[in-house]
Amino acid sequence: MASGGGFVTWVRTQPPPSAEEHPFTLPVVREVFARGGIGLDPGVTFLVGDNGSGKSTLLEALAVVFGMNLEGGSRNFRFSTRTERSALAEHLVARWRKRPRADFFLRAESFYNVATQVERLGVSGYGGPLHERSHGESFLDLALNRFWPDGLYLLDEPEAALSVRGCLALLRRIHDLREQRCQFVVATHSPILLALPGALILQIDEDGALSPTGYDEAEPVRLTRAFLAAPDRLMRELLAD
Ligand SMILES: Nc1ncnc2c1ncn2[C@@H]1O[C@H](COP(=O)(O)OP(=O)(O)O)[C@@H](O)[C@H]1O
Ligand SMILES: [Mg+2]
Repeated sequence: MASGGGFVTWVRTQPPPSAEEHPFTLPVVREVFARGGIGLDPGVTFLVGDNGSGKSTLLEALAVVFGMNLEGGSRNFRFSTRTERSALAEHLVARWRKRPRADFFLRAESFYNVATQVERLGVSGYGGPLHERSHGESFLDLALNRFWPDGLYLLDEPEAALSVRGCLALLRRIHDLREQRCQFVVATHSPILLALPGALILQIDEDGALSPTGYDEAEPVRLTRAFLAAPDRLMRELLAD
């Protein structure tokens, strides 16, 4: 039964700056402002959309609004290796229904830095030294050992580190944690992760439209299906002059 933590199901926008600058010019960001906010499932929300559609921009802003570290980690992680900030976060307000007891922002692209920080802080509970494991192993260790019940978790393309088996293991973990009152927002291209029953799939279209989508209509699923059904034909089309 899908339930989830339900910590935040609505993040409202405040008026954007008039400046025509990134990220306020991104179609999906304009869409979020036009709607007055972004709605999240109490359990699991997937964000899908092509490369560059703005998934990470949205997720980073949510992470900041939720009090997490922009580069990944929990609220106790205050390191930064880049000097970036989320301008979007300054225009978003979370409507908390209750507060999570744990949180984590897991980004494949900065996971190495998070692992370094875990070692530097000497934090235990990660299933062993993360740098002594492969990228995928340590990523899974983290989800299995550091994600607790009653938590709020943001994951940015977690499949990047994972095998198909690894994706299935992560899906199972997300499913179990949702039953233990956790909430997730996950940017993903994985047709495997998207198969989690009862999740909300928000798809970002080319024009920035952000709409709930069924599993079969989600772009990663449609394209992967079309490819696997006829790889030879797709290769002929793709590689034709
Ligand atoms: N600092 C920046 N200045 C201008 N454009 C940026 C900046 N950071 C990201 N972008 C652009 O914003 C778009 C959305 O990026 P991102 O949110 O990372 O996309 P996604 O995660 O969906 O692949 C991309 O086209 C990216 O090039
Ligand atoms: Mg991204």
